Amino acid sequence: MGTPAPTDQVHIASASQTLTIGYQGFGSFHNEDNVEFMASDPGWQPPPNHCQREVCLSGTAFGAPCRYQFLIDFDRWTFLNHGAFGAVLRCAHEEAEAWRRRCENQPLRFLDRELFAQLVRVMGELAAFVGSQRQDLVLLPNATTGLNVVTQSLRGRIGPGDVLFHLDVGYGSVKKMLQVVASQTGARAVQHTVQLPLSSPSQLVGQVATALPEGTRLAVFDAVTSNTGIVLPIQELVQLCHSRGIEVLIDGAHALGMLPLDLRQLGADYFVANCHKWLSGPRGSAMLHVQPKHQRHVHPVIVSHGYGSGFVSALLWDGNRDYAPLLAVSAALRAWQQLGPHAVRQYQRELLRQAVELLTQAWGTGTLVPLHMCGSMALVQLPRHCLPAASLQNLAPAEAHSGRDFAAAPSSATSADAKHVQDALYKLAIECPVKCIDGNLFVRISVHIYNELNDFEKLAAAVSGMCQI
Ligand SMILES: Cc1ncc(COP(=O)(O)O)c(C=O)c1O
Repeated sequence: MGTPAPTDQVHIASASQTLTIGYQGFGSFHNEDNVEFMASDPGWQPPPNHCQREVCLSGTAFGAPCRYQFLIDFDRWTFLNHGAFGAVLRCAHEEAEAWRRRCENQPLRFLDRELFAQLVRVMGELAAFVGSQRQDLVLLPNATTGLNVVTQSLRGRIGPGDVLFHLDVGYGSVKKMLQVVASQTGARAVQHTVQLPLSSPSQLVGQVATALPEGTRLAVFDAVTSNTGIVLPIQELVQLCHSRGIEVLIDGAHALGMLPLDLRQLGADYFVANCHKWLSGPRGSAMLHVQPKHQRHVHPVIVSHGYGSGFVSALLWDGNRDYAPLLAVSAALRAWQQLGPHAVRQYQRELLRQAVELLTQAWGTGTLVPLHMCGSMALVQLPRHCLPAASLQNLAPAEAHSGRDFAAAPSSATSADAKHVQDALYKLAIECPVKCIDGNLFVRISVHIYNELNDFEKLAAAVSGMCQI
């Protein structure tokens, strides 16, 4: 077999081992004495998953019957906030525990001889799920790390006169990352305020087309916005930016699991996603995908042994830590294959539709954007003309009687009001975030496979009770 071209290889190096795997399956694996473990194995196969749990979710009914597959205390909680921090699948949690035990059983065998090959196996599985090549993505502990890697790697490539473009509906910490890199380089971070309401994705693309300033070098878009739950038309936004020579970073923290992904077709320069959110992988699992042409100028924020040995190598090992969550992404992916990604999304969409119908009818309100612009989350406006009793209780007596209520000032709610309502729901064992958008209060509902319409009936009744309607 000929030596594979370098671009076809996954190459990983740390102090004590190197692993090079060609795309045709050629593999070599050396320890610090340069002893080959799988030298020239013509049919390099991914190593066995020592910790695979024999769980089969095929045929599992969604809703209450599948709650056992998660660790949430559903006896106590009505859980409508998957979008915040995700919730792990039991099988993925257990697989991570098994990897942890295997590591501690013989740490040197695991960390020096097994880990990299196992990580590459998982990268291959994840690449197949998102439509990419395993050598173009790397596993990371969270989306924040991936977003920092991309934004910090701009240093040395941008300077005064250059613009970093983002939307006001983007994630708060990403705005800070852009401000930091702007202050380090003399570039400008420019935020565009999305004009709401939106009735179609093309409206948003039109706004961006008009707003993109001269000199934009990078544009950042969320695949799904966090606070507002809007699925952005990322394919069209990538095309628009590329037509103007602008690189695109997609913050897909919510994308994996919620949206069907084909990163090859999407063509974004950089794509970051969490595995510990909608995919329900173990906490501490995420991915960064970088187009091959950019990989040489992408640098890790934490420099370790693999630095200088290529994209994957530089990023995968950032020191001795717990890599079990990354390995157990495998279990989450298997679960999704068994449940059927399409069936999961169909269930979530249909339940979201029913939930929105129920809440908007109960409260006489609407959603922030039309349902066709939502994925598995939606913002539903709380009853207008209603100051929840919970908020009244939190006001000073003089204020509470001052007539300051939503009837008098329908668009004057604050984020403090949102917090009062959210806290009041929490006290009723309903975990559901409340957002204040342009002076109006909304609940942001999340729908995962463990939810049922009954969860939203509880929310509807709780809010109606609080608002005395
Ligand atoms: C859009 C978006 N980007 C980035 C992040 C950061 O994710 P993490 O905290 O897992 O790094 C989140 C988290 O919710 C998010 O919603």
